[in-house]
Amino acid sequence: MDPVKLMKQEVGQAAAAKVTSGSIVGLGTGSTTAFAIQFIGERLASGQLTDIKGIPTSFQASVLAKQHGIPLTTLDEVDRIDIAIDGADEVDPQHNLIKGGGAAHTREKVVDSLADQFIVVVDNSKLVDVLGSTFPLPVEVLPMAVAPVTRALQALGGQPELRLGVRKDGPVITDQGNMILDVKFNAISDPAALEKTLNNIPGVLENGLFVGVADVVLVGEVQGDSATVRTL
Ligand code: 5RP
Repeated sequence: MDPVKLMKQEVGQAAAAKVTSGSIVGLGTGSTTAFAIQFIGERLASGQLTDIKGIPTSFQASVLAKQHGIPLTTLDEVDRIDIAIDGADEVDPQHNLIKGGGAAHTREKVVDSLADQFIVVVDNSKLVDVLGSTFPLPVEVLPMAVAPVTRALQALGGQPELRLGVRKDGPVITDQGNMILDVKFNAISDPAALEKTLNNIPGVLENGLFVGVADVVLVGEVQGDSATVRTL
């Protein structure tokens, strides 16, 4: 198997193993979390896990959960989330994250920050010393505000680019009907301050900085032909 896929699979399985019966589980978005969702489904099917309900962070998570037999609920029906499992695009040494590679960070931030325990699942290529060094920061924007928000982001020193679809002409439209500006900042020295500054721009729904939200970061690594998982 491709080594990156192997790391994602192992780390997804390790996170799924942490889910206990009776839990409300936040289901993240992306290719790593997809493995966690698959393994939670397998544990349910085998009877190892019972009585759990998932809260999906995206259309993708909802489809996968249904495919793997995980019953779903909403934040209107429950007053807690016990555990959330989600991927990330960058993780710094303080466990702050950039998320939104799948344009799902707005719902992900709601669900992940409500969870008693938020477990991040990544392969080791996602570890960085400083956020922003490898991945542009996704910012979800109301369609009618894309032009002024672009100018405001440039004034902050960023280089915003409208995210375009793949095998779809025109912009990516989020699950909420908005657009994504991917903003290159090179190095984000104060993620907590930038997170607040960006969310203060009129027309910005949410940005992909997750500061102080992660409780546990599981990292997949490849050694020889096999993958291992370590806790950061
Ligand atoms: C989606 C996300 C994903 O969790 C992030 O992009 C990581 O994805 P993958 O596990 O496919 O690398 O934030 O909005």
